Amino acid sequence: MPLQISDLSNAVLHTHYAVRGPIVARAQELENLGREIIYCNIGNPQALGQKPLTYVRDVLALCEQPALLESAPHAFPEDVIEAARTILGQSKYGLGAYSESKGMRFVRKAIADFIAARDSTSGVMQASNPEHIYLTDGASKGVQTALRLLIASEKDGILIPIPQYPLYSATITLYGGRQIGYYLDEDSGWSLSEQMLEEAMHEAIKEGIRARAIVVINPGNPTGAVLTEENIEMVIRFAKRHNLAILADEVYQENIYKPGVRFLSFAHVMTKLSEHEVSLFSFHSTSKGFFGECGQRGGYMEVRNVPEEVIAQITKLQSVALCANLPGQVMTYLMVNPPKPADPSYKRYVEERSHILSELAQRAKILEEGLNRIPGIHCQPIQGAMYAYPSISLPAGKTDEEYCMALLEQTGVCVVPGTGFGQKPGTAHFRTTILPPTRQIEAVIDAVDAFQRQWG
Ligand SMILES: Cc1ncc(COP(=O)(O)O)c(C=O)c1O
Repeated sequence: MPLQISDLSNAVLHTHYAVRGPIVARAQELENLGREIIYCNIGNPQALGQKPLTYVRDVLALCEQPALLESAPHAFPEDVIEAARTILGQSKYGLGAYSESKGMRFVRKAIADFIAARDSTSGVMQASNPEHIYLTDGASKGVQTALRLLIASEKDGILIPIPQYPLYSATITLYGGRQIGYYLDEDSGWSLSEQMLEEAMHEAIKEGIRARAIVVINPGNPTGAVLTEENIEMVIRFAKRHNLAILADEVYQENIYKPGVRFLSFAHVMTKLSEHEVSLFSFHSTSKGFFGECGQRGGYMEVRNVPEEVIAQITKLQSVALCANLPGQVMTYLMVNPPKPADPSYKRYVEERSHILSELAQRAKILEEGLNRIPGIHCQPIQGAMYAYPSISLPAGKTDEEYCMALLEQTGVCVVPGTGFGQKPGTAHFRTTILPPTRQIEAVIDAVDAFQRQWG
């Protein structure tokens, strides 16, 4: 008899990932029937028209096909050729061979330099150790590795924000751990409060759950909130008090839109506090920012404050899958090592970057203002990341899932119900990305407006 559903583990059966759930499946069906669909369900920039950066793709093309260095050297600027030669020289065997399990050493060194420079703004030079950096297939694989390490029994719990990005809830379920949700405060722009964290811990202890780590997504998905330095310090102190590791998901660190708002990494704030007792796993990705290279699956995890024997175990886990994909490693290298001001590609690189980021900022503003004009919808400021997570008023007895399905059927706009990310009981939300081109963002607002007036 072939494999039956009853043969599968409960962990697999109970794992949910809303971003690609039934509403998206229905959207695809409608599209196949000829309906125009605006996909606002997933932060996948190039699927919504964002162009790849020329420099990055040129270097990658030469690395993938080194023969072009000989046959078409004049087709590429000098610095592109030089970067490709450096990468090919350092990688020794090119992109068709496995690298060491942690990832290519020169890429890890470049990441360590990037972290040190990014986090040294207050004059304190920060150190990052390339031996504690792992190249990963997108940030997702790094997050999964960290959760794999931390969940040792079914009593082990991980604090995750509510709302959260469902990679966390799904992976915790898959690895047989327990979720400990802590609420973000919508009314204060989805900020994080010590009281909410303590309440969540209290509940966990009451249920006999052993909390192992806290996940923080900054800038927030789906909330769009950016944490202040005080907030980050508070989380670090909380983690220390309760003996928790921190998982700092910083994949949206380049996506900041509000003037005066600044991204600060957990690593930076920890170093300022001279904190060496809290283990920290930080994640970054080539999928977001202005790269939007989701399909290339580049990313890294940096680990701090863990003993060398734990580092050896992480390396062992990485080695089970041999290594992260090599084109993704090259992408990550290019993300942390962009062209310099004197380089021929610099001007174009900066123009392309500014264009992408200013469009995103403009769309965030249009969406936030547009949603807030609709009666029954309220959207907190979109300070960063790629999403709006507005609250919606629903008719009695209706769910946010029904709302999103009806919105899709009637308007072709595909968003994700708040249930997939988590929300306070008695509230309802949906998540939409800010990624569609500006004219489509306006169409989304008009469609939601008309729909909400008759449905909400
Ligand atoms: C908060 C957050 N973390 C991690 C990821 C995973 O991204 P990737 O695996 O493409 O790097 C995403 C993707 O949307 C995300 O929103």
